[in-house]
Amino acid sequence: MNQLIRLLIIALAFVSCQKKSSKSDYIEQRVEEILSKMSLQEKVGQTSLRGTSSRVKGDLSEDLKNAVRNGEIGVFLNVMNPKYVDELQRIAIEESPNGIPLIFARDIIHGYKTIFPIPLGMAASWNAEVAETSARVSAIEAAESGIRWTFSPMLDIARDARWGRIAESPGEDPYLASVLATAFIKGYQGDSLNSENSMIACAKHFLAYGAAEGGRDYNTTIVNEELLRNVYLPPFKAAFDAGAQTVMSSFNDINGVPASGNKFILKKILRDEYNFDGFVVSDWNSVTEMIPHGYAKDDKHAAERAITAGLDMEMTSTSYEDYLLALMDEGKVTEEQLNDFVRNILRVKLRMGLFENPYREKVDASKWYAQSHLEAAKEAAIKSTVLLKNNKTLPLNKNQRIALIGPLADAPVDQLGTWTFDGDGNYSLTPKQAFAENKSKFVFAEGLKYSRDKSSAGFKKAIAAAEKSDVIVFIGGEEAILSGEAHSRADISLPGAQEQLIDALHKTGKPLVLVIMAGRPIALGNIMDKVDAIVMAWHPGTMAGPALYDILNGKAQPEGRLPVTWPKQGAQCPIYYNHPNTGRPASADSFVGINDIPVGAWQSSLGNNSHYLDLGFEPHFPFGYGLNYGEIEYEKTIVSSNKLRRNETIQVSCTLHNKGNYPITETVQLYIQDVVGDIVRPVKELKGFKKIRIAKGESVSAEFTISTKDLEYVDSSMNYVVEDGDFNVWIAPNSADGIKASFELIE
Ligand code: NOJ
Repeated sequence: MNQLIRLLIIALAFVSCQKKSSKSDYIEQRVEEILSKMSLQEKVGQTSLRGTSSRVKGDLSEDLKNAVRNGEIGVFLNVMNPKYVDELQRIAIEESPNGIPLIFARDIIHGYKTIFPIPLGMAASWNAEVAETSARVSAIEAAESGIRWTFSPMLDIARDARWGRIAESPGEDPYLASVLATAFIKGYQGDSLNSENSMIACAKHFLAYGAAEGGRDYNTTIVNEELLRNVYLPPFKAAFDAGAQTVMSSFNDINGVPASGNKFILKKILRDEYNFDGFVVSDWNSVTEMIPHGYAKDDKHAAERAITAGLDMEMTSTSYEDYLLALMDEGKVTEEQLNDFVRNILRVKLRMGLFENPYREKVDASKWYAQSHLEAAKEAAIKSTVLLKNNKTLPLNKNQRIALIGPLADAPVDQLGTWTFDGDGNYSLTPKQAFAENKSKFVFAEGLKYSRDKSSAGFKKAIAAAEKSDVIVFIGGEEAILSGEAHSRADISLPGAQEQLIDALHKTGKPLVLVIMAGRPIALGNIMDKVDAIVMAWHPGTMAGPALYDILNGKAQPEGRLPVTWPKQGAQCPIYYNHPNTGRPASADSFVGINDIPVGAWQSSLGNNSHYLDLGFEPHFPFGYGLNYGEIEYEKTIVSSNKLRRNETIQVSCTLHNKGNYPITETVQLYIQDVVGDIVRPVKELKGFKKIRIAKGESVSAEFTISTKDLEYVDSSMNYVVEDGDFNVWIAPNSADGIKASFELIE
C-alpha cells in the first residue's frame, strides 16, 4: 500500500514538474532527491552489475534476494527466467531502502528471437532503414522478457579479417559505421526511452578494441591520437549524438593504458569533449583484468584505477563492491566521485521511466517470431547479400536441375551466426527448406557434415548429384562458432575439406555457384577460378533460406556492398582501403612478383614500392564492392566548380546507365582525397552514399553536395581542421573504381 502511495506521489510530481520545467530539470531534481536519501552501501550497489550466468543456478537464492533487498545490486545481466525478473524487480521496488528499480540486461546483438544477419552483414546492406528496423524488432521481442538494456551496437572499426569479432563490427569505414550507429541507436531506443519496449543501447567497445594487434582478440592496441579521433571515435560520437545512454569500456589497453582505467578516453573524451551524461559500464571483469594486464596490483588497486578513470559501473567482477568504501576511508577516492557514478546511473533509470513503470511489458500475444519480424529479417538478409562474382551463371532459371551441396545448405543453427543465445534453430528456414518449399528441381547432398569436416566420405554422393544436374549450388563457409569473441583465425580460408570438395565438383564441368555463410571475408585464392559465381551471405539469420532462394533465382536483386576490404589471405591483414600512402606507393607498373624474379638476380630493390612479392598489393575485392545482376556504367565524375570557398558548397555528379536486363538498386558512393595535409591523409575516404533505383535501359544522374565540413579532420595538434588546397573526388561503384575529378578549397 505504502508503495502504491509512493508511486502515486511520484507520478503526480512527475506530471506537475513536466508542466513547470523541462523533463531534464525534473530528472536532475529527482536524481538529487534520491541520492540524498541513499546510504553509502546503496550507492555502491548501484554501480554493481551482477552477471547471473555464474550466480543463479536453479532457484533464486535467498542471498541474492537479500542482496537486492539491501540495495546491493543495480543491474542484472542474463536473468532469463521471467518469473525471476518479476520477483527481483518486486523486491527492489517494494523492499529495498529507496525502491530503486533494477535494469535487466542482455547481449541482444542481431535479434532476440528473430535473428537478423550478423552486424557485419547488416553493414553490407549499406542501409540505415534496415539496420534501424532490426534493432526495433529486437527491442520489441526482448521487452517481453523484461530486457531493457542491450550491449549493442558494437562500433569497433575492424580492419583485420582474422579478428573473430569482425563479425560483430560495422566494418572498416568510420562514415558507414556512423550511419549505422545512428540507425541502431534509434531502433533500440525507439521514440521514447520510457516506452516499455525501448531498450537502452550500449555503444561498445570504448575504445579501439578492433585494432587488436595481429587480429588476436583482447590484444594490445597501439593507435595514435589522430587515428583514434579520425577513425575509431566517429561512430561512437554518432551514437552519442543519437542519444545512446550507455557505453562499454573495452578489454584492450590503448597505447599502454587499459580502457577500463583510461582517464583520457573515459573522462577527457567522453565527458569533457562529448558531454556524455549516461553511464559507462566495464566489460565482463575488465576492471579486475587490469591485474593480468599489469596495470593494477590487486582488486583494490584495480577498483581505484577504474574509479579514478571515471568508470561508473562494474560488470561481474566485484572490486567496487568489495573495496570502494575502504578506498574512500583511505582518502584514495571521494564520496563525490561515487555520487557522480550514481547520478549517471539514476539519470538513465529515470529516463527509462523505470521508477514509474518498473515491470515487464505485459503482452496479450507473444511477438516472438511475428510474421512482420520474419519478413523484416528476410528483407535484411536479402539486402545484406553481396554478389562477388558472376560468369552469367546467376540468376538460376526455373528449368535447371540443381545440385544443392555443402555443409551450410541445411544448418539451421549455424546460419544464425555468432551471439545468438536466444534464437531458436527450430524457427530457422534453411536454403534446403526454401528450395523444397518453392518446388525447385533439386537434389541435396551435403558432401560435408559441418564446415570443419575433413572427411571425404560424402564426396561421392555429392559428385553424383552434381553430375545429374545442370548447375551446382555449394553453400559453405564457417560454422557460427568460428567467428565472434575469442574466435580469431590466422588462416581465413574455407575450413575442413571444403576446398577439396569444390575442386571435385569443379571437375564435373558443371557451372558452380559458391554461396558463403561466414563471419568474415574468406580467402578464396585456391578456388576463385573454379567457381562461376560467388555470393557472400554472411550469417544471414533465421530467414537465410527464403532470402537466398530469392536472390539465387532472381526474385530479388543483390544490393549488398562490402563493408570491409576482402583480403586474398589472412597474411595480407590488416588491409583497408582508406590507408595513408607511403612515399613509395604500390603500383601495377613497377610490381615484380615472386615468380618474375630471375634466378640468381642481382640484389635489386624490386620495384621499390609497398607490396608483397607473393600476394601483390591489391585485395581480392575492394571495400564497397558488389555486383548487380546486369550491368551498370558510371560516366565521369563532374564537379559544379573546381573551386570551393569555405562555408559554400559544390555539387558533384555522375550519370549512371543501366545497360543490363534487370532493374538495379545501385549503392552510389562518394569518395574524396585530401591531397596534401598537416598529416598524411588517406588515399580515399567515403563521404556519402545513396541507393538509387535505375530501371532497365534507364540513365540517371547521381548528385552529392560537398561542404567544407566534409573535408574536416583532426590534425597533429588534435584540432579539427579544414585545410586549403587540392582535393580529389570520385563518384564510384566501390572504393577502387570511378573516374576522378578535382577541386581546390580556397578562402
Ligand atoms: C564480453 C563481451 O566483450 C561484450 O561485448 C559483452 O557485451 C559482454 N561480455 C557481456 O556478455
